[in-house]
Amino acid sequence: MSSSATSAGPEHGAADVESKPVIAVVLVAAGSGQRLGYGMPKARVPLGGEPILMHALRGIVASGVATQVCVALPEGDGALRQLCDDFRTELVDGGPLLTLVDGGATRADSVRSAMSALESGTQAVLVHDAARALTPESVFHRVADALAAGALAVIPVMPVVDTVKTVEATTDEDARIAPEVVVGTAPRENLRAVQTPQGFDLATLLKAHEGAAGFDAAQAAAITDDAMLIEMLGVPVHAVRGASQSLKITTPLDLIIAEGLLEGPLGARWVEG
Ligand code: C5P
Repeated sequence: MSSSATSAGPEHGAADVESKPVIAVVLVAAGSGQRLGYGMPKARVPLGGEPILMHALRGIVASGVATQVCVALPEGDGALRQLCDDFRTELVDGGPLLTLVDGGATRADSVRSAMSALESGTQAVLVHDAARALTPESVFHRVADALAAGALAVIPVMPVVDTVKTVEATTDEDARIAPEVVVGTAPRENLRAVQTPQGFDLATLLKAHEGAAGFDAAQAAAITDDAMLIEMLGVPVHAVRGASQSLKITTPLDLIIAEGLLEGPLGARWVEG
């Protein structure tokens, strides 16, 4: 991070407070959540008695890393807007500014929409999925500390436990046996599952998204995280440790696990690393 220093919230970790960039969190919550099967946007689905979005917002605010939180919501969703407006009244003096925008057709569109509403003076941005509602504060701090230490891009990652293979659709001839055939096996020790919040120098992320402006529909659909766009610029993306509690709530099974994390024998007190 080359820009000059301004403190943004409480001090965490080893990074020198003098070099901490002004950080905003972009919280993308505009997805439809169809895979969860609740017939409502995922951000509104109840988890431990509160909508998923509320857990995500509380986690961000508790981490103290951001001076602004900009939430991308499904267009026209009055219930989620109201929820955020109510949450705003809970924020104490010195807490982050809470800004709401309409999301777009793709996740990247929602990120761009939120970036356009960031306060001037913002130097770095943490892009976070609302679906990762239980991300522990420690992960926010690791990402923010890497930015303060000079990273232009940083992502939280976890080792991959499954063996991962690439496949192709089978030809007509083999389709009666199985729909796909294996074409390769990636070396597992070099694979990482990627989480959010992903942290970026703001100017670098804006440039990366400008590069994606001319993408056709297929290319745009293939962009599943922001770090991919940074990689296309040739800028190094640093990786810090994520957390298993930071699971992306996508399927009904994920929701059961998330409920278990909140209410199970270890409960919310269990924080890994
Ligand atoms: O669809 P996917 O699981 O990749 O969504 C990841 C995150 O991006 C979710 O928090 C979802 O709400 C958000 N999203 C969004 N706008 C979209 C699609 C997804 O904000 N158009």
